[in-house]
Amino acid sequence: MKKLIANWKMNLRSEEALKLAHEYKRVFSELQDKLEIVVAPSVIYMNEIRHVFSGTKIKLAGQNVAGESKGAYTGEISADMLRDAGCEYSIIGHSERRCLLREREKFIPDKLTQCYKTGIVPILCVGETLPEKMAGETDGVIVKQLHKALEKAQGLPENKLLVAYEPVWAIGTKNVVEIGDLQNVIRVIKRVISNLYSEKFFRENVEVIYGGSVDAVNVRNFLAIEYLNGFLVGTASLDAETFRKIASVMTD
Ligand code: PGA
Repeated sequence: MKKLIANWKMNLRSEEALKLAHEYKRVFSELQDKLEIVVAPSVIYMNEIRHVFSGTKIKLAGQNVAGESKGAYTGEISADMLRDAGCEYSIIGHSERRCLLREREKFIPDKLTQCYKTGIVPILCVGETLPEKMAGETDGVIVKQLHKALEKAQGLPENKLLVAYEPVWAIGTKNVVEIGDLQNVIRVIKRVISNLYSEKFFRENVEVIYGGSVDAVNVRNFLAIEYLNGFLVGTASLDAETFRKIASVMTD
């Protein structure tokens, strides 16, 4: 089943988040059987939102996870805590954490390991910046990010992995990737993961999704791309009707 993942980021106060969750519940009552809807709200509302979504097929994700299991790590949220709050997924290595918050790449394997130890499916984000794209370095950046994330992580190839290709220059900018460029990056992801593990593992346990200014209009262009199994959506997920339109285009 294709996946449509909402990343609410650091938006919405509690009443707004709950209102949006109720709207999702209403607008996805039928579509939830045709595609997998996953929502990554702020963790402080996770329990309340879990309650709203109970009895639906809408799943929850963390926006980030700690690379340690527990202990003196002020401000961090462990994979176990996410699991305890009802999350089945967690975003890892989002570019806003890598670029704006200077999260170091060396933490990413530990985050993956913690997810696997706890039964959370990681959504590993990779993507190049605009200067890297202009310099023709996209493929090299993706290869490096995948190697750095996966080589030292424990839990693969036994478990599932979602790879979100999110070009940094496309996030929140209304710029989207060209189809050919996206196909090329998916080929790179497939090659790297097949070489690290096996092509069988890639086909059976890995899903590639795209994120970066996806909306109800441009999503149509991406539907027929081989090995692309869904989308990670920020801005357009903050409006239930817009997000529903994306879902309905995906299931047409
Ligand atoms: P956007 O965000 O849809 O607003 O571009 C996507 C993301 O950051 O996951």
